Amino acid sequence: MIIYCEEEVRAIKKSNQIVAKILNELGAMIKPGLRTKELNNWAETRAKEMGAIPAFKGYRGYPSSLCTSINEEIVHGIPSSRSLREGDIISLDFGVLYEGYYGDAAATFSVGEITPKAKKLIQTAEEAFYKGLEQIKVGNRISDISHSIQSYVESQEFSVIRSFVGHGIGLSLHEEPQIPNFGLPGRGPKIKPGMVFALEPMIAMGDWNVEILDDNWTAITKDRSLSAHYEHTVAVTDEGTEILSLLNDGKNSLPYIKENQYA
Ligand code: MF3
Ligand code: CO
Repeated sequence: MIIYCEEEVRAIKKSNQIVAKILNELGAMIKPGLRTKELNNWAETRAKEMGAIPAFKGYRGYPSSLCTSINEEIVHGIPSSRSLREGDIISLDFGVLYEGYYGDAAATFSVGEITPKAKKLIQTAEEAFYKGLEQIKVGNRISDISHSIQSYVESQEFSVIRSFVGHGIGLSLHEEPQIPNFGLPGRGPKIKPGMVFALEPMIAMGDWNVEILDDNWTAITKDRSLSAHYEHTVAVTDEGTEILSLLNDGKNSLPYIKENQYA
């Protein structure tokens, strides 16, 4: 596990601010009729303009820069000519490499009017991230984060996806430790200042079983229930935590949830 110095954390933040800016712009573009490819193109163009390299394209053969996962799609949905429809929900996951450091973040957005239950699902994914964040403190262990996320999501009568995990990030897109979004507390490595994590709860309205589509990437819920995703890159500091992928000083706390807004 890498312990980053303050200067490195600032560099990781730069990369994450680019991700945040672009995700925010993508969120504002979402409307019925928009093709997911158009979102991918925008993300690529903007990353290039800002001097950053999209991190997902070519990663283990992933074909695009952005992940666009609609409705029952959990994660790793591949942008295509598919257009968004009123009532859909769409998770956008984006990462870049900038000056040697990685940024990674994701959020789920609504397309026009969605059902109250879909709204609650999106909000629960976001709240689950914050429940995990609360456990990121020096002396705690990694699975305290996992346990807190799972307990919260299940208290809202949704389920936590088990096949995908949060991760360390910085010099690589995926570093140790893995951070499951479920499990018993008090296990795993101790949390220390200088660690940087991408915390990313994925949740479902139905159960947590996953299926992978024939494109070998798109993960969907086996029961085809809706799924939401929320991810930020977070640094552990001496004072607490700093969310590196929020478009501000990273220190704001709940209530934070604004519809279709990432900033
Ligand atoms: N945020 C996701 C992750 O950390 C995105 C990876 S997409 C991939 O796993 F294409 F790069 F795999
Ligand atoms: Co990630």
